Amino acid sequence: MMAMAIRVLAAAGAIMISFTAAAQDAQRGEALYAQCVACHSFDPARNEAGPHLRGLIGRKAASVGDFVYSPPMRRSDFVWTTELLDKFLAEPQEPPFRGNRMPFAGMPDAQARADLIAYLKQASQ
Ligand code: HEC
Repeated sequence: MMAMAIRVLAAAGAIMISFTAAAQDAQRGEALYAQCVACHSFDPARNEAGPHLRGLIGRKAASVGDFVYSPPMRRSDFVWTTELLDKFLAEPQEPPFRGNRMPFAGMPDAQARADLIAYLKQASQ
C-alpha cells in the first residue's frame, strides 16, 4: 500500500516538474525569438523580410500565398513539424532546406532550439 502511494506521488511530481519546465522553456524561447522578430510576425496580414509564422506547425512549407519564396523553398515539399523546425534552426542549409534565402547561420544549442520551438508553438497558434 505504502509503495503504491509513493509511486503515485512520484508520478504526480514528475508531471508537475515537466509542466513547470515547459512553461519556463517557452519564456526563454520568447527571449530567443528576438533573433527572428525583425523578419517574422505572427500576424497573418503582415509579412516582413520573411513570411508571417501564423499557424506554422502543421503548415506546408513555402505556403504563405503573398510571400515570394526562393525557388528551393517553393520546390520543397514538406509540412513544418517541431522535428523539422529543430533541424532547420540547427542547420538551415541542410536538405530539405538547402538553398533557402533566410539569412540565419543556425542555432547550435539544442536546449535553446527546444525553448524557441516551445515558444513558436504557443505564439503561432
Ligand atoms: C533577416 C531576416 C530573417 C531572420 C532574422 C529570420 N528569418 Fe526566417 N525567413 C526569412 C526569409 C527571407 C525566409 C524565406 C526563405 C526562402 O524563401 O528561401 C524565411 C523563412 C522562414 C521559415 C519558413 C516559413 C515557411 O513559410 O515555410 C521559418 C519557419 C522561419 N523562417 C523561421 C525563423 C526563425 C524561427 C527565426 C529566428 C531564429 C528566423 N526565421 C529568422 C528571413 C528571416
